[in-house]
Amino acid sequence: MNRVTRVIPVDPTRPDPAAIEEGAQALRDGKLVAFPTETVYGLGANALDERAVEAIFEAKERPANDPLIVHIAHIGQLNLCAAHVPAAARKLGLAFWAGPLTMILPKRPAIPDVVTAGLGSVAVRVPAHRVARALMEMSGVPVAAPSANRFSRPSPTSAAHVLDDLNGRVDLIFDGGPTEIGLESTIVDFTVDPPALRRPGGLTLEQIRVVIPDVQPVAQRIAADQPQLAPGQLARHYAPRATLTLYEGESGPLVHRLGADIRTATAQGERVGILAPDEDLMALAPVIAAAAAAGRVEVRPYGSRRDPARAARELFGALRDLDATGVSVIFATAVGPAGLGLAIRDRLVRAAEGRVKTC
Ligand code: TXA
Ligand code: MG
Repeated sequence: MNRVTRVIPVDPTRPDPAAIEEGAQALRDGKLVAFPTETVYGLGANALDERAVEAIFEAKERPANDPLIVHIAHIGQLNLCAAHVPAAARKLGLAFWAGPLTMILPKRPAIPDVVTAGLGSVAVRVPAHRVARALMEMSGVPVAAPSANRFSRPSPTSAAHVLDDLNGRVDLIFDGGPTEIGLESTIVDFTVDPPALRRPGGLTLEQIRVVIPDVQPVAQRIAADQPQLAPGQLARHYAPRATLTLYEGESGPLVHRLGADIRTATAQGERVGILAPDEDLMALAPVIAAAAAAGRVEVRPYGSRRDPARAARELFGALRDLDATGVSVIFATAVGPAGLGLAIRDRLVRAAEGRVKTC
């Protein structure tokens, strides 16, 4: 593990070629390089170098049965990774790459098993971020990269987040400022027919449906007020240190119930964190003011119901920030399920590990 981590600032739109070449060389040398993409920061290694890929799992403390996404510079390199590309996948790639889309395809033997956790399929993405693409172009190798966070922490949307989680565990971090989308890529699985949405993300279901009308939406994981699910049922989650509960429903009943729960929790001596879009915070203002007077509440707004893109961009940072305050419980609300709201809700449901209260 013990690595000396160096942070290299880069212009996100016009990165310095000398800096990129240094990162490309590091990748060719089997080193770990964190870099910005338009979704979140990735922790990259040469996908064809088994030892380097193993080091990713070590650095993140990620279980080996959790496969990685392979990043390529352009759609023309798809054949390096995929044994077969169905027509629908090609169509989707042409429509939305470079961008926040990952496709699961049958794997070529050249991709080592350690990348795909032994699966017969491989996840591939062409990121749009200039720094990410320049690294892939100049290194000449496909880059395996999960999100650059410690396992079960929220994905990093800034170089500071990467440093918080991986200082001493990664060789280089390219700091290109905050990421634009703030949520991970959308994953579509083309090893099944019709293709299935495996993870909602930065590319919306509505956008995908324009090109592939029969895409199967992601299975609804959580029903109303369902207690804890078995861990396996929740796939991977983003576990804050505090216990997070997600509140959903019509504004009136939601504010009523959440307000009551804030009062109860603070009266019981809990330090309460509130993670919500502007509109919900406004409606809760009197309750929050009372709890704040007693010094028992931390509030982190993330975007607005009217602006899901801003909500997406701010969610993970607000979650990390709130967790760092040492609150014991977090009460969160989501934005509506349309567009990016689907991915926002998905991440909050995972963070809640099944604690979803429908009001
Ligand atoms: O936006 C993103 O997708 C970011 C940036 C860095 O590209 N990456 C990212 O990677 O979020 P990661 O590893 O945190 O999430 C990738 C997900 C994992 O949940 C993994 O299980 C799934 O993709 N995955 C990878 N290969 C797969 C495969 N062959 N079959 C099914 N799922 C796969
Ligand atoms: Mg991740």
